[in-house]
Amino acid sequence: MPIPAQLREGTGIVQTLAPPALTYDYQHSNIGNAVILHADCFEWLSRIPEDSLHAIVTDPPYGVKEYDLLQIEKRASGIGGVWRIPPSFDGHPRAPLPRFTALNAKERATLRDFFVRWARLAVRSLRPGGHVCIASNSFLSQFVFAALVEGGLEFRGEIIRLVGTLRGGDKPKGAEEEFPDVCSLPRGRYEPWGLLRKPLPPRMTVAECLRTWQTGGLRRLPDGRPFSDVIMSERTPKRERAIADHPSLKPQSFMRQIVHCALPLGYGLVADPFAGSGATLAAAEAIGVRAIGAERYADYYTMACEAIPRLAALPVTFHPQQQALFAAEMDDTGEGEAL
Ligand SMILES: C[S@@+](CC[C@H](N)C(=O)[O-])C[C@H]1O[C@@H](n2cnc3c(N)ncnc32)[C@H](O)[C@@H]1O
Repeated sequence: MPIPAQLREGTGIVQTLAPPALTYDYQHSNIGNAVILHADCFEWLSRIPEDSLHAIVTDPPYGVKEYDLLQIEKRASGIGGVWRIPPSFDGHPRAPLPRFTALNAKERATLRDFFVRWARLAVRSLRPGGHVCIASNSFLSQFVFAALVEGGLEFRGEIIRLVGTLRGGDKPKGAEEEFPDVCSLPRGRYEPWGLLRKPLPPRMTVAECLRTWQTGGLRRLPDGRPFSDVIMSERTPKRERAIADHPSLKPQSFMRQIVHCALPLGYGLVADPFAGSGATLAAAEAIGVRAIGAERYADYYTMACEAIPRLAALPVTFHPQQQALFAAEMDDTGEGEAL
C-alpha cells in the first residue's frame, strides 16, 4: 500500500521560519531542511538555547557502551566485546547484534546515569510540551524509561514497532541438547519506543500549549484518524542498508510515521541527538519538516552526509499488515476510510 501523499510529500504547511543557528563551530552539513553535525550530543544540547526544539526522535546507544570507539573496533574485527553474531538457522551469516543481557550491575548504573543526564539536557532543550520518541528494546526499556523520568521527562506511553528480530529465542547456553524445548528469553517480535514529554507549565492546557509553543500533542494521521501506538513495521530493507551500512539503521517506512506524529501542527524543529547514519533526518527531509542531528563518530557522520539525501528520496510503502490493522480499527469504530 503506498504511503499517503501528505506523508510522502510533506505536510502541506510551508515552513518559512529560518532555521535557528544551532550549528556553532561544529563540522556540519546542510541537506535540504536537515542539518547533521559532527558533535557529542551532551555538549551540543548543553550549548543550544533553552526551549529550542519542538521534538526529539532518536535511537540512542541503549547499552551505552556498544558505540564506544573500542567496541566499534571490536565489532569490525569480530573479536570479543559487546557485539555478538546471532546463531544462524538458515546457513546465512548474521550481522552482529549488541549483547545487552551482558550488562552487569555497574554497567546498569552507568546506563541509568547516562539517561538521567541526557534527559535533563533534553528537558532543557525542548519547548514545554515537546515530545521525545526514543527507541529501546524489551529487555532494557524499563531501566531507560525510568531514568528518563528521573531526569525530568513525563512518561506518556510507548509506541510498539512490531517487527521480527533475531533477539532472544536461544536455547540455554551450553546445554542446548539437554534442554531442547526451552528458550531462555522469548524471540523478540517488537521494539518499544518510549513516548515522553517535557511537562507543560503548571495549569497550561494542551490547547494553550499548542498556541504558545506549537507542542503538547501528537499529529493525527493524514486522514484525520488518531496516531496509533502500534505500528506494523519491517526489518530495514536491503536497499536502505545498501545506502547506509550502519548497524542500527531504522527503516524509512517507520521513521517517517513517527517523525510525522512528533510535530502536532506539522511544523517545527525535530532533533536526533544520536543521529547515526541519519534515518531520522532523512525521514524529516522526506516529509518536509526541519531537522537537526548530532553524530559523535566521524565515520557515521560522513555516512549520514551521504545517506540522508538518498534515503529521503526513496519512495516507501507500509508493511502489508498495517493495512489489516487499519481495517480492524475501522471495524471497531465504523468510521474512517482506507489510506
Ligand atoms: C543506535 S545508533 C543510531 C542509528 C540510527 N538509528 C540510524 O538509523 O542510523 C546510535 C548512534 O549514536 C552515536 N552516539 C553515541 N553516543 C553519542 C553522543 N554522545 N553524541 C552523539 N552521537 C552519539 C553512535 O555513534 C551511533 O551512531
